[in-house]
Amino acid sequence: MKKIKIKVPATVANLVCGFDILGMAIHEPYDEMELKLLDTPEIIIKHEDDFGLPEDPSQNVAGVVLQNIQKHFQLTQGFEVTIRKHIKPGSGLGSSAASAAGAAFGANVLLGNSLSDEEMIHFAMFGEELASGVRHADNIAPCIFGGITLVKSSSPIDIIPLSAPDLFVVAVHPQVEVKTSDARQILKKNVLLKDAVEQWGNIAGLVAGILKNDIPLIGRSLHDVIVEPVRSILIPKFDEIKIKSLEAGALGGGISGSGPSIFMLAEKKETAEHIARLMKSVYDEIEIESFVYVSKINPAGIEIIEEQ
Ligand code: HSE
Repeated sequence: MKKIKIKVPATVANLVCGFDILGMAIHEPYDEMELKLLDTPEIIIKHEDDFGLPEDPSQNVAGVVLQNIQKHFQLTQGFEVTIRKHIKPGSGLGSSAASAAGAAFGANVLLGNSLSDEEMIHFAMFGEELASGVRHADNIAPCIFGGITLVKSSSPIDIIPLSAPDLFVVAVHPQVEVKTSDARQILKKNVLLKDAVEQWGNIAGLVAGILKNDIPLIGRSLHDVIVEPVRSILIPKFDEIKIKSLEAGALGGGISGSGPSIFMLAEKKETAEHIARLMKSVYDEIEIESFVYVSKINPAGIEIIEEQ
């Protein structure tokens, strides 16, 4: 295998209460990436999008992943990567994770599937570290494997794929940028025991709800008493969107990753589409441009479009 073209999905991390441990893949938006194995050791990054991301491999999320793979396996070959990014950086929809996961996944295929799942996650986390300063796998894991994943631990890497309930996801991305590194910096370093107990109940309830396909349990577990109260102040109209979505029949939802995107889960397509219109109208009213995505949970993760 010399060349591969892949479709790399956006992801919603945290799933409200599971900060840094839960995430799910969605169908839209997605990035397209082409990776080529080179006979020479260079790593070449090309961006065919308008986001102005660095193309120096040591400063590029996909680049550092490939550099680490190359170094670890003492490869004499290099890689050329072309990225067509549609997941806007700083959207809270796993843009950096998509580049990192796509690089690890693509390199693995080009190298004859010689990396284990844990190794793919391990190398992809170098990209997240470059983007946010922290090695977290809650976007990377669902991006690669699809569905909903639980990062039981990121050191050592222990990822548990969970079944994906048949639900619709609505995500709104208001065009304001929130950097993950900033959204992490404002978090409190200590948590009250009573808040931790409430959060543990919600996380356990959410995971149990997902595994039992108990939709009402999923809905009543989507509460976050630790991160959302702090981060939501960075997102215009967060409370209004949440209240209106719940009134319109959303099961629950909250900040997507570190924001500013907001996501909601809904059982029916009509409800999801209605919520999407509501979300957009809230931002239209205050003249903030927004993009809305309605999709099912994506069970596949990264997909190979072409290989040569
Ligand atoms: N778990 C990470 C955070 C996801 O909330 O900071 C970032 O997309």
